[in-house]
Amino acid sequence: MNATAVNGNEPGVDALGPWFHNLHLPDGTQTCPGHWAGDFPAFKWLELAPHVPEDLSGWSCLDIGCNAGFYTFELARRGARVLGIDVDERYLRQARWAASRFGPGVESRVCFEQMQVYDLARMPDDQSFDLVLFMGVLYHLRYPMLGLDLVCQRVRRRMVFQTLTMPGETVFEDTHGHGFEQRELFTRDGWPKLAFIEHEFAGDPTNWWAPDHAAVEAMVRSAGMRVVGRPGHEIYLCEPDPQRPSCVATWNRSELLSATGRPWRDQ
Ligand SMILES: C[S@@+](CC[C@H](N)C(=O)[O-])C[C@H]1O[C@@H](n2cnc3c(N)ncnc32)[C@H](O)[C@@H]1O
Repeated sequence: MNATAVNGNEPGVDALGPWFHNLHLPDGTQTCPGHWAGDFPAFKWLELAPHVPEDLSGWSCLDIGCNAGFYTFELARRGARVLGIDVDERYLRQARWAASRFGPGVESRVCFEQMQVYDLARMPDDQSFDLVLFMGVLYHLRYPMLGLDLVCQRVRRRMVFQTLTMPGETVFEDTHGHGFEQRELFTRDGWPKLAFIEHEFAGDPTNWWAPDHAAVEAMVRSAGMRVVGRPGHEIYLCEPDPQRPSCVATWNRSELLSATGRPWRDQ
């Protein structure tokens, strides 16, 4: 008996589950209609979509932590070529299967590969993408700044960054030039902070960190980019900041190279 006979879904949906992305398939089937967050991530895309060019012809995009490919497919529908990467082969199977349902116009523009964020270090040095989506992944990384540095190095035009955050919007600007005796400043409201999550959080042991808003901005800046918009809750639009390149592109390159297993002496 196939899945259709059981619940009316297109055959394959149940066999490929559980799903996190509620894809709306061409025959009307939804892959995760009971998602706890609602019609996810369609409602997030509604916030983001107006901030992404409607015509992405000629753009190359990278969707990091692509899951079942919701955003990958949306970008492909706008004409982009999109590489979706995810660590979890079960989600990639869903994405490849869904691509085949969306027809050649979408399927021919997308490619899904099993990759860790950190594997970006092993792409050719000159490989970059016009648009990078880095959504819902940072807080799953045990090594978040390493991940963010590697991601930002691949961005040619824009990055959409989304993360679980810790509450707090205050930004304490005066973070330059202090000494050891002023450590109390770290406790000030608005000094960039990340909550470390030692044990599982919301039932997930891969939830490691929750930065506050000030930390998101500071980390993005430190990775050589700047926040240029906030289209929705916890969503940041970012662009490379040529005036302030990351230290991993300049004086601290050896640390990034070493951390990613690449030769670093005499670089
Ligand atoms: C919360 S989901 C976000 C999915 C999608 N980006 C979105 O915003 O709807 C996190 C996704 O990132 C993937 N992921 C987690 N850690 C990863 C890593 N180190 N490298 C690549 N993907 C990772 C998970 O498998 C999962 O598909």
